[in-house]
Amino acid sequence: MNYSNTSVSTFTENLILNIFKEINVKTDFYLTCTPGLEFMSSREVEHLKIGYSIEEKSGKGRVFFRSEYSKIPEMHCVLRTAERIVLLLERCTVNGLDEIYRVVKKLDFSFIEPEWSFAVRSTRAGNHDFTSIDIGRVAGKAVIDSYMESRGVRLRVNLDEPDVIVRCDLIGNDFMVGIDMTGDEGLHRRRYRVYQHPAPLNPVIAASLVYLSEWYHKNTLLDPFCGSGTILFEAGMMARNIPICRFRKDFAFTRFFSKVPETRENRVNLKLYGVERFRKHVEGARIIAKHVHIYPKFLEGYAERINEYFDEIDFIITNPPYGFRIGKKKVIEDLYSSFLKSTSEILKKKLVLITAERNVFEKYAREYFEDFQRYDVRYGGLITGVYVIEA
Ligand SMILES: C[S@@+](CC[C@H](N)C(=O)[O-])C[C@H]1O[C@@H](n2cnc3c(N)ncnc32)[C@H](O)[C@@H]1O
Repeated sequence: MNYSNTSVSTFTENLILNIFKEINVKTDFYLTCTPGLEFMSSREVEHLKIGYSIEEKSGKGRVFFRSEYSKIPEMHCVLRTAERIVLLLERCTVNGLDEIYRVVKKLDFSFIEPEWSFAVRSTRAGNHDFTSIDIGRVAGKAVIDSYMESRGVRLRVNLDEPDVIVRCDLIGNDFMVGIDMTGDEGLHRRRYRVYQHPAPLNPVIAASLVYLSEWYHKNTLLDPFCGSGTILFEAGMMARNIPICRFRKDFAFTRFFSKVPETRENRVNLKLYGVERFRKHVEGARIIAKHVHIYPKFLEGYAERINEYFDEIDFIITNPPYGFRIGKKKVIEDLYSSFLKSTSEILKKKLVLITAERNVFEKYAREYFEDFQRYDVRYGGLITGVYVIEA
């Protein structure tokens, strides 16, 4: 399906607006995000005046917020820490599949055009005697039955390329149903990566780290393990107000809205630096830079030697390699120790770092710095530590 060719009828726009006004849910949403960093997404929603946060489901990667239906396209430009945005139709407690059927069947799906197709995507966390596939099957039947009652047509299912995605998430017995406004590809797919690093950082997390540091564009920012430069590009895009939808337009919401809004970008000067050990990644990062039109100064070198390359740096934000990627324990100990030692010599404001090597990092952080703050964040199937250290 090519969303960019979708012609949207005003009829549909009005229809969906009327429904959401009538049943008074047009303002309820949830976003999915990195488990452990919900507070960051919640702050972002409020800081960017998208809406106000109602609840952070901590550790579960969900933030519920109230906003306006008309802000859905804008959300897909500015919410850098969100994975996916869902228009919430219902949230309630359920016990079992029969109840799931009843809850979904009660909902009004008549804003879907009869010739459109749909799919239910479901996730489940907790102890249940059924699977997420069962939820999808039962909820799918309920959508079809509800639509048959309201519009007298059997709605077509298309699991591969649906026009509308109904999201059903069950966490314990907390059940939420909504219309996925982002689509199957989450917002972490920025599509600026014209060079593929083997272990790139999720841009959604990179953006969260930048927010967490409170970096301001007039300050210098260094990523000493920069790989393909994700952290630097996210920081640069943030400072220049470049929307996350700059390199993609294929969002599910374009079914309901005719336009992706334009944003006012600016040309603030940036002082971004990247150090990376391998030349091929430095070259890859430079290729991405040309694509994004943000040009950090990339240097082929060693994170352990940043005190030789720089006299001082305001902010360091980075994700160093984990032990299982580079092998022996001793190697990782030496790397973290020398990197933190050099950092302590040049850092002027803050270090923000994500790593699964929590013990090693904390051992040397204690040696070279007074204190640190840690957030436990689930990333790539691991519990990682996101650390903030003040110089
Ligand atoms: C987890 S990756 C960072 C990925 C990066 N954030 C991105 O999104 O592309 C860690 C990077 O550190 C680099 N690296 C490993 N040892 C290094 C060292 N001693 N000095 C500088 N870079 C190093 C690796 O080559 C790798 O590119």
